[in-house]
Amino acid sequence: MSHNTIALNQQRQPLDHLESVWLFGYGSLIYKADFPYIQRRPAKIHGWLRRFWQGSHDHRGTPEAPGRVATLIETPDAVCAGMAYEVTPDVFAHLDHREKNGYLRIFTEFEWLDGSGSVSGLVYVAGPDNEAFLGEAPETEIAAHIARSEGPRGPNDEYLLKLADALRELGEHDDHVFAIEAALKEQV
Ligand code: SIN
Repeated sequence: MSHNTIALNQQRQPLDHLESVWLFGYGSLIYKADFPYIQRRPAKIHGWLRRFWQGSHDHRGTPEAPGRVATLIETPDAVCAGMAYEVTPDVFAHLDHREKNGYLRIFTEFEWLDGSGSVSGLVYVAGPDNEAFLGEAPETEIAAHIARSEGPRGPNDEYLLKLADALRELGEHDDHVFAIEAALKEQV
């Protein structure tokens, strides 16, 4: 699958007939909401694991030297915490562009972190079949890769450090993200 997913997302899933749509963010979408939203709420999804296994050609790296950013890996019993946003469907023109490097939208169920219920909405997932997927590597290697990468949106380590801080603010412990953060801090 080509790593530019804009057209694919728009063909597969027209949203214009909906009044509003919930979106679950688990990576930069937790800490960088550069789009209008109606409301936002901390949430979690089941069956998905956050992993720094996706290559970034357009934000935190280049096509020649991709950075590493977060995607979700389907894993029974896993839980991934993040931030959910209620948006109007037109906001997806911006979001599809921002997430165009391999991410496809899928519908899933989110549970509110405060335990007060759930809602169905969309999440962007960059699967193993997209051309920018880098896959598994030891966390120390991922940290070294992030330390040397940079793209049009800035250094790759900024993405990681902001995500780790945002997860702490949510009161969440993510072993994978925090292990990469610790390894990165040891290397500098
Ligand atoms: C997300 O944050 O939900 C998608 C991945 C990213 O943009 O970092």
